[in-house]
Amino acid sequence: MKAIEVIGEGKEARLELGEAPTPKPEARELRIAVTASAVNRADLLQRRGLYPPPPGASSVLGLECAGVVEEVGSEVRRYPLGARVMALLAGGGYAEQVVVHEGSVLPIPDGMSFEEAAAVPETFLTCYLNLFRIGAVREGQWVLVHGGGSGIGTSAIRLLRAAGVHVIVTCGSLEKVERCRELGADAALNYREGPFAPEVLELTRGEGVDLVLDSIGAPYLEPHLRCLRVGGSLILIGLMGGAKAEINLGMLLARRLSLIGSTLRARSVDEKAAIVHGFLERFGEALRSGTLQPVVDRVLSLASAQEAHDVVERSEHFGKVVLRVRD
Ligand SMILES: NC(=O)c1ccc[n+]([C@@H]2O[C@H](COP(=O)([O-])OP(=O)(O)OC[C@H]3O[C@@H](n4cnc5c(N)ncnc54)[C@H](OP(=O)(O)O)[C@@H]3O)[C@@H](O)[C@H]2O)c1
Repeated sequence: MKAIEVIGEGKEARLELGEAPTPKPEARELRIAVTASAVNRADLLQRRGLYPPPPGASSVLGLECAGVVEEVGSEVRRYPLGARVMALLAGGGYAEQVVVHEGSVLPIPDGMSFEEAAAVPETFLTCYLNLFRIGAVREGQWVLVHGGGSGIGTSAIRLLRAAGVHVIVTCGSLEKVERCRELGADAALNYREGPFAPEVLELTRGEGVDLVLDSIGAPYLEPHLRCLRVGGSLILIGLMGGAKAEINLGMLLARRLSLIGSTLRARSVDEKAAIVHGFLERFGEALRSGTLQPVVDRVLSLASAQEAHDVVERSEHFGKVVLRVRD
């Protein structure tokens, strides 16, 4: 099958279309003929050798896909041959075929295209896991999310607004600020124009947000502790700004704050199945009715995977960059 290969190492590593062995499904796995995949920031790290796949996962890049079931293992019950599905992957999405445990698979609603569906699993499930399962946000609460125009940011805005939660995002340009407001963010702040913490406190009448979904890390730790309300949670999902920071434990203690690290990719198939199940229970109807949709920035061909990475690296995108694998 055709699959994207990483040629070279480190900063010089480039993506090229090559060949890889067609994977065979195990008993509880199914094989998907991939129609579309999508780019996630983690793929850029993996390309440079900084985020290796978990043990047992495909070494081909790609954390999500949409396509058609073309072979099922002996114990797969839920998805027949020919079903239109999208899937959360530990790897292997940038290829014509991929195998995945049935618990990581979701049906594609009627009316949703393969390109749209490929943009759903990784960021929607990450946001659902961290905001609703771990963070347990409730209607009327306030959440701060960074990179409002990112895959994670646009998915968070859509899920939080669907649940009646107030969301403040940060962005690096006026254009993204405006687009995040149009998408439903209660407020969008340009982080290049000044510190976000005072504005977050003002927007929340001095009380602070209930939860921060943090993909930046070190440089934002101190302002995060200042703009969380008493009893609030900081959920760390990425380290785009750096990993090492000094923390005033007194602030955690006195204000009863929680600091939680969270990853999705390396979780067990059972944990992922529970997350997928919970997501479909909570948001399946909104997906089916079309009121909940991913934001697709652009669709490029699989052969243009390097160009897609360059777009994401420069943060030119708003929403998800999708790769069309076949017509
Ligand atoms: N732990 C997990 O399970 C998990 C799962 C999925 C994703 N993630 C993490 O979530 C993050 C987002 O992923 P993604 O794929 O959605 O990324 P993405 O689409 O590439 O977007 C990242 C965005 O962050 C913004 N940004 C950069 N520096 C910033 C700063 N200092 N303050 C605010 N925004 C900033 C940039 O937009 P601007 O143009 O606005 O600067 C950039 O577009 C990544 O760190 C990723 O690793 C974690």
